[in-house]
Order: sequence, then structure tokens, then C-alpha cells
Amino acid sequence: MKRWMGKFKALMLFTFLTILLAGCGKENLTALDPKGYGAEISFNLILYITFIMIGVFVVVMVIYTIVLLRYREKKGQENEIPVQVEGNTKLEIVWTVIPIILVIIILIPTIFYTFDLADTSEASTSINVDVTGNQYWWHFEYQDEEVSTSQDLYIPTGEKVYLNMISSDVIHSFWVPTISGKMDVNPENVNTMYIEAYEEGVYWGKCAELCGSSHSLMDFKVIAVSPEEYEQWITDMQNVDPEEVPADAVAQEGQDLFQNNCMGCHALGSAPSGVGPNLTNFGDRTHFVGYLEPTKENLVDWIMDPETLKPGNKMTGTYDVTEEEADKIAEYLMQLKPSEVTPESAGGIID
Ligand code: CUA
Repeated sequence: MKRWMGKFKALMLFTFLTILLAGCGKENLTALDPKGYGAEISFNLILYITFIMIGVFVVVMVIYTIVLLRYREKKGQENEIPVQVEGNTKLEIVWTVIPIILVIIILIPTIFYTFDLADTSEASTSINVDVTGNQYWWHFEYQDEEVSTSQDLYIPTGEKVYLNMISSDVIHSFWVPTISGKMDVNPENVNTMYIEAYEEGVYWGKCAELCGSSHSLMDFKVIAVSPEEYEQWITDMQNVDPEEVPADAVAQEGQDLFQNNCMGCHALGSAPSGVGPNLTNFGDRTHFVGYLEPTKENLVDWIMDPETLKPGNKMTGTYDVTEEEADKIAEYLMQLKPSEVTPESAGGIID
């Protein structure tokens, strides 16, 4: 009785945790509420396969229950030995053929959509972005537009955007669950995929391949805005003057400090990024370092001690600034807001 109670309690706890944890996650970081082409296909395949599996489960359980009830030992049969059988060819054929048919039923749409999602025939007439995965951040170069940015990828809604992806170091994986499937980002070859968002919104992206100590912090965003806003954003980004001097004195000092300490690794304007992210529109970012709220306090903490906030990053120990100087640099960076089109314009969930 006691052992039975223990098992019952464990089952209750398990059930409770399942229900509790099912509430975790974010609305803009889920594969189960698709808002883009790739995610919709994945979700439909998940449903399709799940229904087939439930069918298999039900049939097996029904047969199992019938056999269990029908062939159990009845009163008066205690000493009877059942008829001994050795194999049944008909049955063997049936339970070999049925699974093969089921696998084929699953295979057909899976193969069709795999090729559909790998189709890049329209790439030449679409938006093309070169994506580089780095430990532990993402870089985006809009090929024809000559716009360079990191961490926040702006795309227009209702259009396919083709991504050419490579890694500068180890294998990463590009994944924006709400709008697309995953794609490995390798150091030695370019992998291509396209993404398409149906609705405006800020979609959370994750690196989905263990790539080092801060793999779990290698987050980014896809910001889907209307096609008009996207055009506006591109124009604003193209018109950035990286040398522009900020209006207030503190930010000016910050700019000098930034140029002396940080520009060896970071980039501004259309310049391709170096060891560190391009910071052209840093002030418009929803997060920085992948996950931190872009407050001045967080930014100063980051500049003073990056190792604690993102272990294994390449910034630690490459510069020497005081807290006062870090504050000025933060002031400058927070003012880098080149466009009216921001994550807020996407209207979706920001957090
Ligand atoms: Cu990059 Cu995990």
C-alpha cells in the first residue's frame, strides 16, 4: 500500500509539472503557433504525424485489450495448456506491410516540403541576406542594399527573404521557431534557406546547436514590418553617417572613447562587422548581448564585466575603461537610433 502511494504521488507531481511547464515559453518563441511559412509547414507535419501515431496507438491498445480479456485464464482452465503455435505468416505480413504503408504516407509530404523549403529559384529576384554566425552573436548583410547590421534582422511581411548562412568559427544553427524551421550554420559551406513572416512582429531567434559556453545566450530577433516600413528602414540605414557627432557633450565624449577603445572590433554604418557586432542601430535594439534589456545600467555592467554576463565572449580583456568612461560610451551607444522604424513599429510582442 505504501509503495503504491509513493508511485501515486510521483505521478501526481509529474502531471502537475507537465501542466505547469506547458505554460512556459513565449508567444513569439514557439513552434506551435506558426506565423510564417516554414513554421506553418513544420506545424502541419507535426499534426499530421501525431494523428497517424494516435491512430496506431488506439488500434494497438484495442487489439491488446481484446486479446487480454478474451484469452485470459478462466475458471477450470488452471491446468490446461493452450494450443502451441509457431509463427503465423499472414499476421507477419500484415504487421510488416501496415507500418511500411504508414511510413510512406508520412514520407510523401515530408519529402515534398523538404524540397519546397530548399527551393531557392526565386532568390535572384528577392531580398538576399548574408548571415554569419559567430560565438555568440549573429551578423546580417543585405547584399544588394549594402546594409550591415547585427542581432536584429528586419524583413518585410509576406515576402520570401533568402538567407545565405556561414559561420566564422564553429557550427551554429539558425532557428526562429515562430516563422521558420532550423538550418545549420557551418564554417566550411554556405547553407541557404528562406524565411517568410505572415504578420508583423518581433520574433525571437535562438542558436539551436551547442556551440560553446554562451550557446544558450546566442539569441537574436527577426523584426517583421510592413513592406513600406522595411523600405524606409533600408533607406535610413543606408543614410547613416558613422562619423556623425552627437549633439550632447557626454555622448560626444562617449563617441571619442568608443572610437579609441571599441572600433578595432565593432563596426558602424555599412562597414562589414569585425570581431564584434555592427552597432549602427544599437539604440533601436530590443535586447543586447542576446538577452539583456537595453538599459544604460545593463550596458555599463556589460562594458565593465562582460565575462560574467556572457562567458566566453571575445570582448573580455580587450580594452581598459573606467566606470565613468563606460557610462559615457553607453550614453553614446544608446543614441544610435538611425530609423523611425524600430521593433515597436512591428507592433508585435517585444519581450
Ligand atoms: Cu551558436 Cu549555439
